[in-house]
Amino acid sequence: MAAITNAPFRLVARECGAGPLTSEEIDARGLVEGSARTAELARYLPEERPIAMQLLGSDPDVLAEAARRLEAAGADAVDLNMGCPVAKIVSKGQGAALMRDPLGAALILRTVRKAIRVPLTVKIRGGWDDRTVNAVEIARIAESEGVNAITVHPRTRAQQFSGLAPWEIIASVVGGVRIPVTGNGDVRSHDDARAMIRATGCAAVMIGRGALGAPWIFAGRAIPRDEKARIIRRHCGLIQASFDPRTALVQLKKHLAWYTSGLPCAARIRAEVFGAPSAAAVDDAFWRNW
Ligand SMILES: Cc1cc2nc3c(=O)[nH]c(=O)nc-3n(C[C@H](O)[C@H](O)[C@H](O)COP(=O)(O)O)c2cc1C
Repeated sequence: MAAITNAPFRLVARECGAGPLTSEEIDARGLVEGSARTAELARYLPEERPIAMQLLGSDPDVLAEAARRLEAAGADAVDLNMGCPVAKIVSKGQGAALMRDPLGAALILRTVRKAIRVPLTVKIRGGWDDRTVNAVEIARIAESEGVNAITVHPRTRAQQFSGLAPWEIIASVVGGVRIPVTGNGDVRSHDDARAMIRATGCAAVMIGRGALGAPWIFAGRAIPRDEKARIIRRHCGLIQASFDPRTALVQLKKHLAWYTSGLPCAARIRAEVFGAPSAAAVDDAFWRNW
């Protein structure tokens, strides 16, 4: 998830029990043109491996060159983002917009597939809108272009994140291809993950928002309060060790605010955390109320 699933958060997820990790979306052109900000998004810690790096783009050659560089930097897989619904991304023909152009998507996948040896995966949505639900068609194209696995978030681009994720679309993709399909959408607990596997037959489950303020979701068991406190402290330590002070402060506020969910008076604590002027004050505002 953009601006959230950076190295510290991913490593904490892994330490809690997460399987393969995926980076946030990384702009292929920014990477190829040497943007320092984009290179920062592709940074990972060795303990995170196996990790897939996710690319965002629409130009086959630029995507292929970016994929080559990610592979050279040690990525265990490259994932193509065909699901991002954000207006400023789809207006450039990227993310979910790629699903509107199956021939263009096929050319991109063929070009990137040829450029790298590590697995190429793709993350798709159900389709563009309820008149063009083409996840199965796109998944079949991906399979025939040599893509190794697919993740399906079954809402359409028009749905963004509203309403329930229609898991039956995941089941249709599972039935439509032979490569492994990872299901994604609305999994908030281990029971939800098991229910998704039962309902769809998917080979794996990807969890996004359900891990915010709760990376222990990957543990698959109830985590006692003192262990949660240890995980939160570990996460904060990694944030401070990984970023410059300004970025670290933003990240601490964001994640500690998520960690307040479920606490009595969470809204008040969140306001205190966001209003705190320094990392020490953020830390104090959180732990005083924990
Ligand atoms: C703030 C935010 C940022 C996201 N960024 C990405 C991204 O960079 N790449 C991606 O594939 N999906 C991204 N997603 C979508 C999630 O990966 C996931 O498909 C979606 O949230 C549904 O799954 P969930 O219910 O488990 O969160 C993002 C979602 C949110 C809420």
